[in-house]
Amino acid sequence: MCSIIGYSGDDNAAPIIVKGLRRMEYRGYDSVGVATESNNRIELKKGVGKVEKVNSEVHLENLPGKIGIGHTRWATHGKVTEANAHPHSSNSGKIAIVHNGIIENFEKLKDDLKKEGYDFQSETDSEVIANLLQKNYEISKNVKDTMIKTISELRGHYSFIAMFDNGQLAAARFHEPLIIGVGEKNYFLSSDVLGFIEQTDDVIYIDNGNFVLIDQDKMQILDFNGKEIKHQITKVSKEFADVYKGDYAHFTLKEISEQSETIFRAGENTKEAIKEVADLLKHAKNIYFTGSGTSYNASLIAKYLLSKYAKIKTESIISSELQFSPDSIEPNSILIALSQSGESADVLEAVNIAKKTNCKIISIINSLTSTLARESDIVIGMNCGPEIGVAATKSFTSQLIILYKIIQELTDGKVEINFEEISSSISKILEEHNNIKKIANKIKEISDIYVLGRGIHYPIAIESALKIKELTYIHAEGIAGGELKHGPLALMDSNVFVIIINPEDSTYQDTLTSAREIKARGAKIIGISNKNSDMYDFWIKIPKANELTYPISETIPIQLLSYYAALEKDTDPDYPRNLAKSVTVK
Ligand code: G6P
Repeated sequence: MCSIIGYSGDDNAAPIIVKGLRRMEYRGYDSVGVATESNNRIELKKGVGKVEKVNSEVHLENLPGKIGIGHTRWATHGKVTEANAHPHSSNSGKIAIVHNGIIENFEKLKDDLKKEGYDFQSETDSEVIANLLQKNYEISKNVKDTMIKTISELRGHYSFIAMFDNGQLAAARFHEPLIIGVGEKNYFLSSDVLGFIEQTDDVIYIDNGNFVLIDQDKMQILDFNGKEIKHQITKVSKEFADVYKGDYAHFTLKEISEQSETIFRAGENTKEAIKEVADLLKHAKNIYFTGSGTSYNASLIAKYLLSKYAKIKTESIISSELQFSPDSIEPNSILIALSQSGESADVLEAVNIAKKTNCKIISIINSLTSTLARESDIVIGMNCGPEIGVAATKSFTSQLIILYKIIQELTDGKVEINFEEISSSISKILEEHNNIKKIANKIKEISDIYVLGRGIHYPIAIESALKIKELTYIHAEGIAGGELKHGPLALMDSNVFVIIINPEDSTYQDTLTSAREIKARGAKIIGISNKNSDMYDFWIKIPKANELTYPISETIPIQLLSYYAALEKDTDPDYPRNLAKSVTVK
């Protein structure tokens, strides 16, 4: 999943495009490129690396012209090379494209085009779009007909923007995001409102299966058959503009630190929806959760807590797995989709499958303007502000808070949650940063870390291992305490670190026994607990809480530990290698 952007207006396009790309780097950041049109000529520059680096090397910003397109890449087809970076131009050099998604039939299209004499410079699936457009444009001499014909030949999921050397832009959306920004004297096309939010907050959400034509100040939206579609301009929240790091060294640190405050906002913008959801859950026969990555891990906690505190049985399904067992969802059930971005392709696919059997879709999302929000019957907003760091942090705790609020509703307030206390616990843990930094220094050379927890702490162990992997590139694994002796104990020796999640609750003694078994094999132990023990080589103190709220206090130190270990290892915590924040491809 890449980011694409296009601009047509009165100002120089390249600096505006570069600015937009910087903001959308969270979507993919292994290479970058910009193409502009000026005096009926297309000029193009690209390179490997992040926007800042490539811009300083080749000066993307200096490209001339008031019309342009840009791209940041997350490689799917072909290695990370300059040749594979977008934009790709057609053989004639008269058309350039940027693309996000996957063209499934690109090999066949490429073979056919090669037979007709077209050359290809890259290994990408995207380059076929440029040459297919050229072929169809040479026949029709008309951008609209060219788009209709080209789209009819493409299979897969895509959004792309094409720039023609006569200064026209054309863009199509098919299962990948594409949004128009409407300025006073300009138009923007982008994967995300962040691409242009500084310029305008008037947007048009392009529906799936539509395409756009922009010629100077004339803009049209059409369906794939060429029928013009009426469109509506909506305002997006200016809050999106809050995507600066401020005094923080990294977005990840900023987002970890914000949690003492973001937990108060979770669900506050959709209060009625929480009540509605609680009511539905009380009467539902079958309830399923789905999500990917951290959002899936949040669903594991949801399953545990709903069962324990509200006596409601649910199932958690990894979104990408549902396609292999669609029958595991009973018709007319409730599917609760968790997703920070609301754009993860796997989650959208799971929602699609559930819709086919008439399930009601409830979603818990940060981005209320996302595709998932529009696909859902009821939406609860995480409301934690833009999360830019690729590894999910504040969105995870916001998901948990929403869950607590649902449990409160379900139990008519019998289960009480003290949000002030949670916030103060987070602040106290953040003050532990010097201790956590020292521990981070100790784990930097380690190749394997295990995180052990029992009961509600087991899903937190899984989420912790994910955070460590994403930010530090150290192999990490979450273990259910009791499973230690069924396998992982064989791996314990002096080269291993084990993080024991062990607050004083019903799991405390059993987890301490696990710690003893691990220590006897020479592994080093980091204890996360409100109480110290001589079992621990290192202790991260968390305030005493209750079982319901421990998941939050346990998560913060692991987020910080992963962040500081990333710094120790000199990796970029905001943009871990090979990963992207919003995975819009399957
Ligand atoms: C990517 C991100 C993860 C995130 C997952 C799900 O893999 O790198 O941090 O947890 O997607 O994202 P979502 O936006 O659906 O919550």
